Amino acid sequence: MQQIKVRAETADDLRAIDVVNLSAFQGEAEAQLIGELRKSSVFIPDLSLVAELNGRIVGHVVLTKVRFNSPKGGTEILALGPMSVVPSQSHRGIGSELIEAAVARAKPLCYTAIVVAGHPDYYLRFGFKPAKDWGVSCNLPIPEDALTAMELVDGALQGGGTVEYPDLFKALF
Ligand SMILES: CC(C)(COP(=O)(O)OP(=O)(O)OC[C@H]1O[C@@H](n2cnc3c(N)ncnc32)[C@H](O)[C@@H]1OP(=O)(O)O)[C@@H](O)C(=O)NCCC(=O)NCCS
Repeated sequence: MQQIKVRAETADDLRAIDVVNLSAFQGEAEAQLIGELRKSSVFIPDLSLVAELNGRIVGHVVLTKVRFNSPKGGTEILALGPMSVVPSQSHRGIGSELIEAAVARAKPLCYTAIVVAGHPDYYLRFGFKPAKDWGVSCNLPIPEDALTAMELVDGALQGGGTVEYPDLFKALF
């Protein structure tokens, strides 16, 4: 079986990451968003991960900082996405490896929770749960069910609250 290697992006990977995103998504919005995120204060270089297959980048995921406003006060948590796998390599577990690696790398960085705005059926299998179960919503124009979340620290989302995505994300909608 071919070995998938997941690692943090480097400056040499940026074009290849664009290609992955342009091939996985319809249009340029996600590739452009990732470029903008990279220049912004919410970007965490260690949490922009590529999946390499035989030395070729075939997948990418990025986790960035988002504000979480709750009755307990404001804090920074992580938002996962955009995430992409080239169509020719999809359904082979590469997306799963990217998510598992992202969660594993986020934990030691002391963030308390991760949210995802995206296909809920996909993320629930990795331990994400409907965000509404905690009373957590977000400022993006997405259906309530499309927001899932995972606590990295028990109780982090207890009491609910609102996730404030940076305006950059609004270009996707
Ligand atoms: C979603 C994506 C990252 C999954 O990557 P992947 O490497 O194919 O994922 P895995 O192989 O680990 O898992 C595949 C499973 O994911 C599920 N899946 C894939 N796309 C899905 C989607 N859009 N909605 C719900 N589930 C999905 C399927 O159940 C699939 O299972 P199957 O192989 O038995 O059919 C990839 O399909 C992709 O890049 N899609 C286009 C971009 C996109 O939608 N990104 C996510 C934005 S939230």
